[in-house]
Amino acid sequence: MYCCCSGCARCTAPAAARVIVRAASDTALEPEAAAAALAPEPCGYELYQKSLLGVPWPSDYGDASSDDLSSEWDSDAAEPPSASAPATPVKPSGWRKLRSIVQWTPFFQTYKKKRYLWIQLAGHQGNFKAGPEQGTILKKLCPKEELCFQALMRDVLRPYVPEYKGHFTADDGEQYLQLQDLLGDFTSPCVMDCKIGVRTYLEDELAKAKEKPKLRRDMYDKMIQIDPLAPTDEEHRLKGVTKPRYMVWRETISSTATLGFRIEGIRQADGRSSKDFKTTKAREQVAEAFREFTAGYPHAIPKYIQRLKAIRATLEVSEFFATHEVIGSSLLFVHDASNANVWLIDFAKTTRLPSGLAIDHASRWVVSNHEDGYLVGVNNLLSIFKQVHQQQQQQQS
Ligand SMILES: Nc1ncnc2c1ncn2[C@@H]1O[C@H](COP(=O)(O)OP(=O)(O)O)[C@@H](O)[C@H]1O
Ligand SMILES: [Mg+2]
Repeated sequence: MYCCCSGCARCTAPAAARVIVRAASDTALEPEAAAAALAPEPCGYELYQKSLLGVPWPSDYGDASSDDLSSEWDSDAAEPPSASAPATPVKPSGWRKLRSIVQWTPFFQTYKKKRYLWIQLAGHQGNFKAGPEQGTILKKLCPKEELCFQALMRDVLRPYVPEYKGHFTADDGEQYLQLQDLLGDFTSPCVMDCKIGVRTYLEDELAKAKEKPKLRRDMYDKMIQIDPLAPTDEEHRLKGVTKPRYMVWRETISSTATLGFRIEGIRQADGRSSKDFKTTKAREQVAEAFREFTAGYPHAIPKYIQRLKAIRATLEVSEFFATHEVIGSSLLFVHDASNANVWLIDFAKTTRLPSGLAIDHASRWVVSNHEDGYLVGVNNLLSIFKQVHQQQQQQQS
């Protein structure tokens, strides 16, 4: 069976396996095992891709528009391939100096008499600045996200999200959300942002992208930067791809479609950081990144496992979670020499479900059923952290 997401857990798990996913038995949730018991059901990506066959092939070219920047790495400045660039891919160096992050968030924080450079690992440039109160940051206001934070402050999930301290208007009139700085209690923290869910686009965005699509040179350029073999011969000839085609490709090159999460960025305590996880897809690649992230901090993985279990148990009873489609949200992992913790962040694309519609966050996503695969991601994160931990214990004994 052809599947555009190469046999994801969601589209391949038969009904019984899905019950296991729902029962949140993270040790039972091995994508390989689920894939072995294939039920040839197409996933949302495959159905969406099929539906594109009915969309007329565009003859004209379009430009980047503001609605394109719904996902962070689409807002990464793409370095256009130079005329002299070789035809073979030039992989950018994965680990970069802190310099590149400093450009994003050039502000220092002070908390409990400590002064530190604040870290923004992923997300949109220029979205954050230091808050008016110590231990807080300001995030540019998105009214939808504010509604989520207001609801979350009344929900059982409250201990697992940054505290929302209200609305803040800066001197220049710009509006912000004032949030607890999750890095405040750490010294030289290691930080990882994992974006959760089997898709990072809203149903609306996918539907809109199909309306009169144009050929996009910018998206073609982003595609060949990552994989020069990804475009078809025709797309190479035209030097353009359509937006919906680009969106499906982009979602299926990482572990988003298969594992229900992807690594957005990692920052080590020594300042090395990387956002080069766009094609980190295989479970083993993810496990290796987790090993590297936690190397030298033996207390981190057990604490992460414990916290993820608590998050999962709380999600199961949360009114907020039951009534929202959670898209593009992340789990932020932070540890230092003595502590480790995880929080849910980024609700800018989290939307209240249409009334009368219920989702369980674990069932297969098909276009327009609104399933987000959030629990698929949490279960796989737990499963991989447990695997890494067990292997490390075996090596020690
Ligand atoms: N409350 C917080 N405390 C500490 N760091 C945060 C907090 N919120 C966000 N960040 C940092 O900023 C990055 C982007 O945040 P996010 O809310 O995802 O923004 P965006 O909506 O632009 O994607 C995260 O990866 C993390 O490094
Ligand atoms: Mg984000």
